[in-house]
Amino acid sequence: MKAINVGLLGIGTVGGGTYTVLARNAEEITRRAGRPIRIDIVADRNLERVHEITGGSCRATDDAFAVVDDPAIDIVVELIGGYDLARQLVLAAIANGKHVVTANKALLAKHGNEIFAAAQQKGVMVGFEAAVAGGIPIIKALREGLTANRIEWIAGIINGTTNFILSEMRDKGLPFATVLQDAQRLGYAEADPTFDVEGIDAAHKLSIMSAIAFGSAMNFAQAHIEGISQLEAVDIKYAERLGYRIKLLGITKRTSEGVELRVHPTLIPAKRLIANVEGAMNAVLVKGDAVGATLYYGKGAGAEPTASAVIADLVDVTRMHTADPEHRVPHLAFQPGAMVELPILPIAEVTTSYYLRLRVEDRAGVLADVARLLADNGISIDAMIQREPNEGEEQTDIIMLTHQTRERHIDQAIAGIEALPAVKGSIIRLRLEELL
Ligand code: HSE
Repeated sequence: MKAINVGLLGIGTVGGGTYTVLARNAEEITRRAGRPIRIDIVADRNLERVHEITGGSCRATDDAFAVVDDPAIDIVVELIGGYDLARQLVLAAIANGKHVVTANKALLAKHGNEIFAAAQQKGVMVGFEAAVAGGIPIIKALREGLTANRIEWIAGIINGTTNFILSEMRDKGLPFATVLQDAQRLGYAEADPTFDVEGIDAAHKLSIMSAIAFGSAMNFAQAHIEGISQLEAVDIKYAERLGYRIKLLGITKRTSEGVELRVHPTLIPAKRLIANVEGAMNAVLVKGDAVGATLYYGKGAGAEPTASAVIADLVDVTRMHTADPEHRVPHLAFQPGAMVELPILPIAEVTTSYYLRLRVEDRAGVLADVARLLADNGISIDAMIQREPNEGEEQTDIIMLTHQTRERHIDQAIAGIEALPAVKGSIIRLRLEELL
């Protein structure tokens, strides 16, 4: 049986895991794929590392372009990350008629439309299971398993670093900055954690899922993105008292007016399964009209979990390699000619519930004024707690949950409330989803 030849670009954590798992499970993978999947050449700047991992069992080069131009290579696996070089390499591989497998969510979120159009034109496959939620087969589930459904919404914990930080903040009552430092010391968070903590990594993954769920183009540029760096431990505590947990969620929802595409810290009921996803784990909740809510849970990063997804794509490509392009599963789940343009809703038009925390003077009539401003904007209060003021203290905190309203209405109400003389400083506002 002639092997299918893979050219691996990058043998870092995921590349190393891919080599190891392919070697360890070669016999079973061959039985599944129908023929051996062989890493024929590895490109990496660090040739010593290539040798360390492969033991000289395949060719090595420090020139990634030599791999994408190599006529012996059937599938290029791009694991170098980043935007520009990865884009050039992937487009060159496609232009040379090679199939591509990538774990690069940033690349697809930014250049996915161009890459899929090029792949479509050349009749090659682009696999990207590893780009979203690491080892969880969420792309397969959305693209194939749920294909009967009209997908209504997706809500996911799709960044392990931030979920780890939030779990630690809740467990230990520590502030964000302290937990981040610990996470960096333990190697859970990158030295530059911006992409993770500011929600950008989650938004990349969300944009990909949204496109597949609704059959529309990738729309990362229009996503609303808020991270967790401004989140205070006290809000995690108050949320808990009200029966909620705070998670960094990526949410995409189809409404009659357009698509919501947003990443932000979100209160969710503590009794939901997804609220109990702790540490660096990932989970994605998908609501389909026929199946109802389905939940996918697992490791969203790491060498072998991500390799599991890369190799699943390699097996898919190997199986479908000789099929007519029109008989393969479409890249974005919908046939290329059947994609639609759906407007992305600005955040001001999103409808959700809210958590508000305000510092107020503790005297008669203050709460009535606040409630009146909410009512004037059509906002109904769902729950409220007031902190016991300390001995001699003349100010207190009020924490409120609202029923659903449009974001622009809560913005207006907040502006009015902040202008009240009895209200001190800015109001903390977080979004809340029941996930029903
Ligand atoms: N940095 C990501 C996370 C993993 O923390 O989940 C890779 O996407």
